[in-house]
Amino acid sequence: MTEWLTSPKDLSLKGNEVHVWRAPLDMPDVRIEKLFEVLSQEEKIRSARYHFSRDQKHFVAARGILRNILARYLAAEPEQIVFSYDSRGKPFLCDTFNNKEISFNLSHAHDLALYAVAVKRKVGIDVESVQQDFQWEEIVERFFSSVEQAELWTLPVKDRLRAFYTYWTRKEAILKAMGTGLTDEMREINGASEPLKSTCLSRAGYPRNGYAHWTLIDLDTGPRYASALAVEGRDWKLRCYMYSPE
Ligand SMILES: CC(C)(COP(=O)(O)OP(=O)(O)OC[C@H]1O[C@@H](n2cnc3c(N)ncnc32)[C@H](O)[C@@H]1OP(=O)(O)O)[C@@H](O)C(=O)NCCC(=O)NCCS
Repeated sequence: MTEWLTSPKDLSLKGNEVHVWRAPLDMPDVRIEKLFEVLSQEEKIRSARYHFSRDQKHFVAARGILRNILARYLAAEPEQIVFSYDSRGKPFLCDTFNNKEISFNLSHAHDLALYAVAVKRKVGIDVESVQQDFQWEEIVERFFSSVEQAELWTLPVKDRLRAFYTYWTRKEAILKAMGTGLTDEMREINGASEPLKSTCLSRAGYPRNGYAHWTLIDLDTGPRYASALAVEGRDWKLRCYMYSPE
């Protein structure tokens, strides 16, 4: 069971901690407008490309809240934050003012956003909205490892949909931590197996010098969502916060 704490007044992030934040994205227009103001020019232009107003508002809210969360760790103003992107689109903080070496990742689904923040370690987070009528079988054949497929098919029929989302979010969290995004590599990553709460995975060839150890944790975000967090290394503690505007 994930314990979601109210956000503390004095926030500090130690080297052996990972913080996860959850934030609702549906909010009154007046708050969206306030968050829009802290976005960069490039983010404002990107927000205008969304076809549906709801998606546009969710993007503005998710990015605006990201800036507000990171600003608290950096003791900066949200609008001062500068992001860079790697070749696959993973955002990170620009070196010039990130002397604390903070890393982060975010995910949003429907009206929920999750953020992971850490120091000097890679993090990846994924949330999916559970669709009861989702046709998952073809995706399993294409993207799931043989171990995952075997485990999934032995589950009672009523548990398979939830298991599909659980495995998927674990795999995506790891790929997001590595920054690769969704690729055919997804098949190589095993998100199945007990214990469900904390699975340590190794993957050959990463980083260059050998094996990296990833800790994978399922986050409890209620029955409508499946969520997972992937963190580089094992020696860290998790703290989960509910975001509320200042
Ligand atoms: C990253 C990815 C898995 C996200 O999928 P998703 O389930 O639709 O979205 P999520 O809500 O979980 O995550 C979105 C967030 O992840 C972050 N993100 C984007 N690319 C990322 C990557 N490669 N790795 C980790 N995080 C990434 C962004 O912050 C994004 O939020 P934004 O909308 O504010 O920009 C998917 O976009 C992907 O596979 N991207 C890689 C694309 C690629 O390979 N491009 C090659 C160059 S063209």
